[in-house]
Amino acid sequence: MDKIRIVGGNPLNGSIPISGAKNAALPLMIAALLTDEVLTLENVPRLRDVALLQRIISNHGVDYSLNGKRAGEDHLSGQTIHFHAEAIVDTLAPYDLVSQMRASFWVIGPILARMGEAVISLPGGCAIGTRPVDFFLMGLEQLGAEIEIDRGYVVAKAPNGLIGNRVVFPRVSVGATHTIMMAATLAKGETVIVNAAREPEVVDLARCLVAMGAKIEGAGSSEIRIQGVGRLHGATHRVLPDRIETGTYAMAVAMTGGEVTLEGTSADLLETALDTLGQAGVVVTPVSGGIKVYRNGNGLRPVDVTTEPFPGFPTDLQAQFMALMTKAGGTSRITETIFENRVMHIAELSRLGARIHHEGQVATVEGVDRLIGAPVMATDLRASVSLVIAGLAAEGETTVSRVYHLDRGFERLEEKLSRCGAEIERLAGEGAR
Ligand code: UD1
Repeated sequence: MDKIRIVGGNPLNGSIPISGAKNAALPLMIAALLTDEVLTLENVPRLRDVALLQRIISNHGVDYSLNGKRAGEDHLSGQTIHFHAEAIVDTLAPYDLVSQMRASFWVIGPILARMGEAVISLPGGCAIGTRPVDFFLMGLEQLGAEIEIDRGYVVAKAPNGLIGNRVVFPRVSVGATHTIMMAATLAKGETVIVNAAREPEVVDLARCLVAMGAKIEGAGSSEIRIQGVGRLHGATHRVLPDRIETGTYAMAVAMTGGEVTLEGTSADLLETALDTLGQAGVVVTPVSGGIKVYRNGNGLRPVDVTTEPFPGFPTDLQAQFMALMTKAGGTSRITETIFENRVMHIAELSRLGARIHHEGQVATVEGVDRLIGAPVMATDLRASVSLVIAGLAAEGETTVSRVYHLDRGFERLEEKLSRCGAEIERLAGEGAR
């Protein structure tokens, strides 16, 4: 298995192009199942999760084709992919595929809405928590679906089509909001989603669905109204920039020092996280076509954060922020409220010399002067990148193993960092043992 080797200590200077958002690309690809016409997505990141979802939806009958390189594009530019679900040939999503990527469970919404039935494997657990699907099932039942669980599969039926209704989520869920919003576009009458997720990726999906002919109002607020239509048509949509990748590189620069322009992204996508960085002593300024990040020269200050649904501080930046706080001049408290097990990086950061005490949902991080490189192991996508940015700031060599987690969500990470002066390389296969 591949490893990443880092020799820490270099400041980052230069520019990093930000890719299209993984968490927007995935639901957008799934939206292709809603129409028999072509959905073209631009700025799709080259990631393992995207490739896996292509395979999964192709099982249901979606053809896909890629544009080749165009003038002015390089290997860091996003891809343009055409998705065509002319006919849904299979309404069953098998366990071996769904268990590899939880978001593929979301196909249940479009397939049920378009075909009147869907048989989708339950996704199972993952490294960051139990992650149930009860809100999805409750929402689909409220749209008139009959749901049974049979041998690990959700069997959902709505032979006469879904019917619009009021769906009140007990707690904010990004995936359940995506799924019910997609399903409701083809339901009869009006659906109102109450306590909807407000994440920018929900807004992006709504924009794409509207371009496909859906009638949706209120995406980005906690109440989304959808008037069902008879059919959706093809469209072209550009995937929004990845706010988690943006925040991650901003934290890497904050940790190592230097000055980096993050290109093709926007500060509006992650207000709270950038405010938090500002409190920690990091300067983030909008520049044409992106944002510039550098430290204000006074060292890092400790800041307490609590993860929350958007517009709060994102759970997907919690591990990276914890890495940053290990070098702050004082003690910070980081409270995780979204995923109960998102703490696996604590033990690995401690191997680099971080001082973190963890009890329940709260990690108390006591800043240290030096981190010292060591072998560490990636446990999930965001945890792995927190180890990489800690390694960039540590003295000496850090090797991060199980980097397949990183390939799920960070496009060409080593290349983006090394062109800014980081000493980072991938050790492939055998040599990595
Ligand atoms: C999405 C993101 C993930 C991010 C998370 C929270 C994608 C592909 N993934 O995941 O990167 O960390 O949002 O911002 O976009 N819950 C239930 N029952 C349900 C559904 C969710 O109890 O039926 C709980 C979850 O266990 C969790 C919380 O609700 O505690 C929020 O999860 P949710 O927003 O659904 O996360 P995902 O959509 O899976």
